[in-house]
Amino acid sequence: MPAFTDRRLRRRDFLGLGAASLGSAWLMACERATDSILSPAGPGDPLFARGGGAALTRNPLRIPNTVSASGLTLTAAPGTANLGGTFESAALMYNGQFPGPSIVANSGSTASIQFVNGLTQQSITHWHGMMVDHEDDGHPLQAVNAGSSYNYEFPIAQRAALNWYHPHPHMHTGEQVYYGLAGAFIVRDSEESALQLPSGAYEVPLIIRDASFDSAGNLKLGGKSSGFIGTDPLVNATRTPYLAVDRAIYRFRILNGCNARVMRLALSNNASFTLIGNDGGLLTSSSSVQHITMAPGERTDVLVDLRSLVAGSSVMLRCLDAGWDILELRGTGAVISGQAMPSGTLSSITALAGPATPTRRFSFDGMTRINGLIYDINRTDFRVQHGVVERWRFVTNGNAPHPVHVHGASFQVQSRTGGRGMLYPWEAGWKDTVLLGDRETVDVLIRFERTGMYVIHCHQLAHEDQGMMSNFVVE
Ligand code: C2O
Ligand code: CU
Repeated sequence: MPAFTDRRLRRRDFLGLGAASLGSAWLMACERATDSILSPAGPGDPLFARGGGAALTRNPLRIPNTVSASGLTLTAAPGTANLGGTFESAALMYNGQFPGPSIVANSGSTASIQFVNGLTQQSITHWHGMMVDHEDDGHPLQAVNAGSSYNYEFPIAQRAALNWYHPHPHMHTGEQVYYGLAGAFIVRDSEESALQLPSGAYEVPLIIRDASFDSAGNLKLGGKSSGFIGTDPLVNATRTPYLAVDRAIYRFRILNGCNARVMRLALSNNASFTLIGNDGGLLTSSSSVQHITMAPGERTDVLVDLRSLVAGSSVMLRCLDAGWDILELRGTGAVISGQAMPSGTLSSITALAGPATPTRRFSFDGMTRINGLIYDINRTDFRVQHGVVERWRFVTNGNAPHPVHVHGASFQVQSRTGGRGMLYPWEAGWKDTVLLGDRETVDVLIRFERTGMYVIHCHQLAHEDQGMMSNFVVE
């Protein structure tokens, strides 16, 4: 194993507070959160739109502030989060924010980040989609105890993309993510900036996830081995949000940050999204799609043309499967000029050339196993040679959706047979997470450039925590 103990720093007097005092506030919050299991919406709670256009009190969408990846301290700790308007909840937050700050870095720069664990249990931060070496990947082996920290330093050696960060300690990822620990990690490069895509107020990250609440409005996590499905959507941790939008083209950077829910997004006016990118960045060209299916961990990059949305009108971003109006886009009427929809080639992507028959097969079994094995943090399940393109085949004997996520490399999806039986435009280009449905077989081509230990796992977080994860070593 690489020696990474020097990355770990013990801080006995964490922030001058005992970890115990942070812990007791959190415990009290948990007691509050679990002492009522009845009536999710009391008479005093605002109604929640479920597909209708009824007038509601909506809260301004929170836009996380941005921070540089260089010299960043990221502290995970309990606190109280505002969820919009008068909604408050006990939460776990990075730097006191839910979602965590959006980390922004240029390709070619270096990230230097100190993670400080102010929780009452072990944690470590994984940069989902970032191509980094083993020591910087937030592998569960690197989890640090409460009151300790971990220093990351890695080159940003990849193309522009929306990635994200969240905890990855074995068996506790689901609850730590659920209570608020997640944020965007945006990489920029010159290929992307040459396209002059909408930026500033016209480029909006949307971290969409579901949640359930107790009668006091605290986040409530039901313990189900089949996975948590919440009663309400949150966008950037805002309940019932709206975004005031000009007559302009908007670029939405969307992450499905749910523990288990697959979303199918659409616009209420039946307009199309112009899909320009996904997990691994820009696609070769844009395409028009009326709805987009996203599993936990997947990202999409879309343009929405709101140039004809007049003041006082609005369009809803919907989840068709849940019947939710997730986000109201509310017209201000202000006309913005000088924007254009990109045409032609967005990006160049070299197709991987690899074997036609599977190099390896991964069966996602039940809710706890890959190829019959429950995750063992100290066991290496297979070895891969770096620099070689392999074909990986994902199959399941049920209990899907299984969003399959691989650390250490991006892949290119080749085929889906059985089940939905097709690939979708948002599955082109580079991916790090692909949705495996019941009765489906999905093939991907993958090549690792870095050596060291990584994991493959189901991003349905209950499945991951229950052992649907596997260690492998690239050599
Ligand atoms: Cu988003 Cu291994 O995780
Ligand atoms: Cu799964």
